[in-house]
Parts: sequence; structure tokens; C-alpha cells
Amino acid sequence: MSEPILQVRDLRVTFATPSGDVPAVRGIDLDVHPGDSVAIVGESGSGKSVTMLAILGLTHGATVTGSARYRGTELVGLEQGALRRIRGSKVSMIFQDPMTSLNPVLTIERQLSLVIRAHQPSMTRKASAARAVELLDQVAISQPAQRCKAYPHELSGGMRQRVMIAMAIANNPEVLIADEPTTALDVTVQAQIMELLDDLRREHHLALVLITHDLGVVAGATDRVAVMYAGRVVENGAVGPLFADPGHPYTRGLLECLPRLDARHEIQAAIPGVPATPQSLPPGCPFSPRCALVQPSCSDAEPVLAPHGETMAACSVLTRTGVR
Ligand SMILES: Nc1ncnc2c1ncn2[C@@H]1O[C@H](COP(=O)(O)OP(=O)(O)OP(=O)(O)O)[C@@H](O)[C@H]1O
Ligand SMILES: [Mg+2]
Repeated sequence: MSEPILQVRDLRVTFATPSGDVPAVRGIDLDVHPGDSVAIVGESGSGKSVTMLAILGLTHGATVTGSARYRGTELVGLEQGALRRIRGSKVSMIFQDPMTSLNPVLTIERQLSLVIRAHQPSMTRKASAARAVELLDQVAISQPAQRCKAYPHELSGGMRQRVMIAMAIANNPEVLIADEPTTALDVTVQAQIMELLDDLRREHHLALVLITHDLGVVAGATDRVAVMYAGRVVENGAVGPLFADPGHPYTRGLLECLPRLDARHEIQAAIPGVPATPQSLPPGCPFSPRCALVQPSCSDAEPVLAPHGETMAACSVLTRTGVR
């Protein structure tokens, strides 16, 4: 197998707040290979965004430990100048909220030009304007030359999301991180955006890291999944085996929450209880207070990832393995 472009090992992120330390990410491992498509799935607050922001050096004020290597270069602790050269060009991110990530007082062309020229300062204004039109065309915005002259408020939500994608691919990245790229959009537009990301991945040989809280989005969109709970990966594996035979009760719960055509009139299952908060984790397995399979031993120690069929899962009941 090829060398990973992005290799993350035991990444930990802690925010110091007036009410105490918030261990938002508690030891993540992740490998992203060229052309890969990986989804990071989990409930709100599980640490999905913070993980990716920390890799890009964007968790200001937080303590970040562990390792995140881009083609062998350590990103954790890298000085900002070197980080900026990688961020937005080699590894780029579509941020979670397109409405606030676009500047309302600049035209689309100007915003795209700023992104292009930040990494290619020798490019003329004329050339970057032409590249902006080309990028809008690549993300399937019709009449791209006209749209380039528009301000963000003149575009629909779906179009604004396409502009965000255009910005993220402007400097031909090798890794594209898409943080909830479809959450604010209606279902048909969601499908179009997912299709666009997949087309771009194939055409530009990108590796795609898709962050989502919706396991339903993952099925046709990525090859691998990492399920996060309370700042850690509790299961990972290829999409097929993970959907067919999940090895963690939390993954099972997420799958049971998915709407099914054959159960149209039934109320969907929900995972009971509330997500664990990083400030007040229970002893042992953080999912145990909500888990249908809980055993007294679950509060002894936090389980580590171990093989379950074709996936790796951190559950001492289903995988019958050691704990940390
Ligand atoms: N700047 C910060 N200071 C303190 N705590 C923070 C900060 N940023 C994030 N957190 C906490 O870190 C945890 C993980 O947040 P994160 O944004 O990664 O969640 P997420 O999985 O992306 O959720 P969502 O699906 O809602 O986007 C949360 O408990 C959040 O409150
Ligand atoms: Mg998030």
C-alpha cells in the first residue's frame, strides 16, 4: 500500500477554560492515503471539527500533543509560516459554516483571487480572475463569469457551498477536508454536493476527509469510516463491513437511527441519554451510561480499538479484548 499523505498518531487537544480543562480530542490515530475517501462520523461535540482544525494548526490557545504528519512533515508545533504554506494549498478545508466563511462585502471573484494569490503571489490579477471563472465552472456553477461578479448574498445556499468548495480546491490540494458540507442544504442539493465532491476527488486525485454527523451520507460517499465518541475513535473500518456488522454499540445505535424505506410509519430509534461532555466523562467506557449492552466491568477502564470481524472497535463487551 502507498505511504499515507496524512498520518495522525495519538492526537490530543485540550482547551483551558475558566471552568477547567476541556479534553476535546483524546488520542486519535488516522491514516489518509492518496485518493482515499474517509468519513469521520459522530454526534455534536464528539471532536470531529477540533481534530481537523488541530491538524491544520487552527485551534488557537489549545494544547495540542501527538503527531500529525503531512508527507512526513510534522504539523504539530510547526511554525505558522510553514503551516500556512501547507494549509490551503496541500491540505485544505471546507469549513463548517459557509454563510459566515464568505466575506459579505467582497465579490466571489475577489475572494477566490485572494485565496489563489495567497499561494501564488506572482500570478497577475487578470490570470487569477480567469482562474476564478474556471474554478466556478469546475464546481458546476452555471454562467461562471457572471457569478464571479456577484456578492455572496446574491447566491443560493447550494451555490455558496459550491463557492466554498471552489476556494478549497483553488490551489490543487492533495487532501480536502470537508466539514459538514451539506448540513445546511436541502436533500436534493445535498446529493448534488456529495456527487460534486466525489467527481472532484476522482478527477483531481484528491484524498477526501468528510466530516458528518449523518451516517446516511456516508454510505455512497466514502470507502472508510471512523466513528468518534467523546473525543476518540470508537470504531473504524471499510463502509461495507461497518454497516453490515458494527462492533461498537454506538455505531449500532447510529445505524438504527437511520431512516429506512421499509419502516416509513415507525418512529425511528434514538440513542438514549445525552452525548458525553469532555469535562465530565464517566469512568471507563464513555458510552457506558447510554449503552444497552453495558456490563459492570465497563466502568473499570476505557476500551481500546481491537478487531471485530473486519472492523476495529473499542468495546470490551463485543470485542472481548483488553482495556487501557
Ligand atoms: N475554543 C474552544 N474552547 C473550549 N471548548 C471547545 C472549543 N472548541 C471546541 N470545544 C469543545 O470541544 C468539543 C468538540 O467540539 P467539536 O467542534 O470538534 O465538535 P464536533 O464533533 O465538530 O460537533 P458538531 O457536529 O456540532 O460540529 C466540544 O465539547 C466543544 O464544546
Ligand atoms: Mg463540527
